[in-house]
Amino acid sequence: MKTTIYYFSATGNSLTTAERLAEKLGGCELVPVASVMHQSKIIDDSDAVGFVFPVYYGNFPYPVRMTIEKMVLNPEAYVFSAATYRGHAGKAAQRLDQLLRTRGQKLSLSLGVSMPGNSFINAPEVDAAHLANQDAAIEAMVQPILSREAHNYSTDEILPVTPVGYPNNFRGIVAEESCVGCGVCVGVCPMNNIAIVDGKAKIGDDCSTCLACFHWCPKEAIWMSKQENIARRSKYHHPDVTMADIMAQKNAL
Ligand SMILES: Cc1cc2nc3c(=O)[nH]c(=O)nc-3n(C[C@H](O)[C@H](O)[C@H](O)COP(=O)(O)O)c2cc1C
Ligand code: SF4
Ligand code: SF4
Repeated sequence: MKTTIYYFSATGNSLTTAERLAEKLGGCELVPVASVMHQSKIIDDSDAVGFVFPVYYGNFPYPVRMTIEKMVLNPEAYVFSAATYRGHAGKAAQRLDQLLRTRGQKLSLSLGVSMPGNSFINAPEVDAAHLANQDAAIEAMVQPILSREAHNYSTDEILPVTPVGYPNNFRGIVAEESCVGCGVCVGVCPMNNIAIVDGKAKIGDDCSTCLACFHWCPKEAIWMSKQENIARRSKYHHPDVTMADIMAQKNAL
């Protein structure tokens, strides 16, 4: 029995969740979404396939969509997901199920774990409690997956597809006076949407709103909004994850 877990992560919550879940399940192959999402075709013949990702606006991230849209999956495979989110997964499971059905598959089990938020909301006490509960929440995922628990996530409601950058209330803004052209943002961007031009970072329009550039810039030169209170939230990354871990996702295969 072969199990493959595809994961996407900007600040490490989903990366650590995927790694720890894979270890507990045993015999899993781990594939970073950032390493395959730009391929034209992704063939997967696994008996079980998992997707681990952060929730963005009650949805799964655009890079996960880019990946699944190009996947050829074993129609008999058991498909599960494990979302990481601060408060709520919204309609991520239903949307994922809709997308998988266009690929001749469906979502059988949607699981989740509350983690520190890396978006606008920043609350240290809540974040600490969520982090402390991470391993217990992952442990609780193991039996349902191994026993192939299945639910129906299909819905008659047509859920909107998320285009790149939607809903566009985050766009990285480079404070050029602080940028030293180090290229960290280029290395962590899964969309390859940042370039160094004349020694300064330049962010394009192909943004998936993951906020990796915002959180990992060593000079705090990327703002996520022109609004001071939002732009100045503190940087976050999972305590067990490094910048190199995030960058390595792009080059893992
Ligand atoms: C653009 C954006 C939108 C988000 N939307 C939600 C949301 O709708 N619900 C929620 O609970 N958390 C939301 N979050 C928080 C992340 O899902 C959460 O912090 C996640 O664990 C980050 O995972 P990562 O460290 O693997 O990147 C959002 C984060 C970002 C960057
Ligand atoms: S990581 Fe920050 S300092 Fe480095 S190039 Fe990007 S914006 Fe500039
Ligand atoms: S530009 Fe920044 S927020 Fe947008 S996809 Fe790249 S790293 Fe993520």
